[in-house]
Amino acid sequence: YVVDKGNHRHFMEKEIHEQAEVVSHTLSNYIDFAEGKVRLDTGQLDFANLDRLAMSACGTAYYAGLIGKYWFERFARLPVEIDVASEFRYREMPLTGRMAAMFISQSGETADTLASLRYCRDHSLPIGAVVNVRESTIARESDAVFPTLAGPEIGVASTKAFTCQLSVLAALSMIAGRERGTLSPEDESVMVQALVEAPRLFNEVIRDIEPQIETLSRELARFKDVLYLGRGTNFPLALEGALKLKEISYIHAEGYAAGELKHGPIALIDENMPVIVIAPHDRHFEKTMSNMQEVAARGGQIILITDEKGAEAAPLETMATITLPVVHEIVAPILHALPVQLVAYHTAVFMGTDVDQPRNLAKSVTVE
Ligand code: G6P
Repeated sequence: YVVDKGNHRHFMEKEIHEQAEVVSHTLSNYIDFAEGKVRLDTGQLDFANLDRLAMSACGTAYYAGLIGKYWFERFARLPVEIDVASEFRYREMPLTGRMAAMFISQSGETADTLASLRYCRDHSLPIGAVVNVRESTIARESDAVFPTLAGPEIGVASTKAFTCQLSVLAALSMIAGRERGTLSPEDESVMVQALVEAPRLFNEVIRDIEPQIETLSRELARFKDVLYLGRGTNFPLALEGALKLKEISYIHAEGYAAGELKHGPIALIDENMPVIVIAPHDRHFEKTMSNMQEVAARGGQIILITDEKGAEAAPLETMATITLPVVHEIVAPILHALPVQLVAYHTAVFMGTDVDQPRNLAKSVTVE
């Protein structure tokens, strides 16, 4: 990897556009294409005999972990406890039963994540880490290292590391499913096929949606507050979307589980707070659409991020609908991360902020 911007205005733009390549590279480390199977050595993490997995991370890596939780629980029927590392390290979670711990970190140096790891190590838990920097402290102190092969990430707001983290967590949840007998070889091979084909879609998707998002961002830049909604794995993506937007454009944004709309944020909805709904046509789609109608009924403007099936079935006019191809549910969050990143990026560029070095933020937080 040559660490320069190439033809891009910012590292963040370059890193968004690199995702086809780095996700494909990362997946090739975990997938046996010929066999249609996940191939990875889980070392001391004996998934077959675990009662519980504890996960922890910070920032964007935490949201990757949250999506991982949905996958481990769905495909491997393995209960996952997850918390941001700054809470995990002090809440003295009782580490009882057959447990393992998993930490996710781009840098491998985040102080709170490392402290959480050491808490688990002091309690003799087997430790796995999804890290981008192989020589990092978190990698060194883990029993099993699952590298993301994203290459150096320079933009403070994480993009390609996130989609690579998701790719590794997808593979890990699938192998856990196989080892626990909850994922059939047929389902595994369908998922492998879907993952293998995914990176090829990325460049196409970016080419198709980027001009529309650029236009949309000029409108978004007028607002002071934005709400992101999603259900299932789209919920962590909503959190990630809000994080990205606030970090680099300084527009106040919140991510919410769509089902929680009624329990608070609905009070804020009017024409001054656009709502970005992330809703591919999955098993939560209908429910999310009814939340979308509740937003519309209160004069809220909607930006819908969905797939082709969802765009057809959506019951309402929107301010904009960003349409992606229909993909398997294990690929959906990885693919839907692209518009989420591009919305934040173009809004920030339009507002003229320092996209790669947003104020007050650091790439790696090595102090508490
Ligand atoms: C900082 C960065 C984020 C990153 C988080 C966790 O806040 O600005 O982009 O997600 O730290 O970092 P890590 O290196 O542990 O993934």
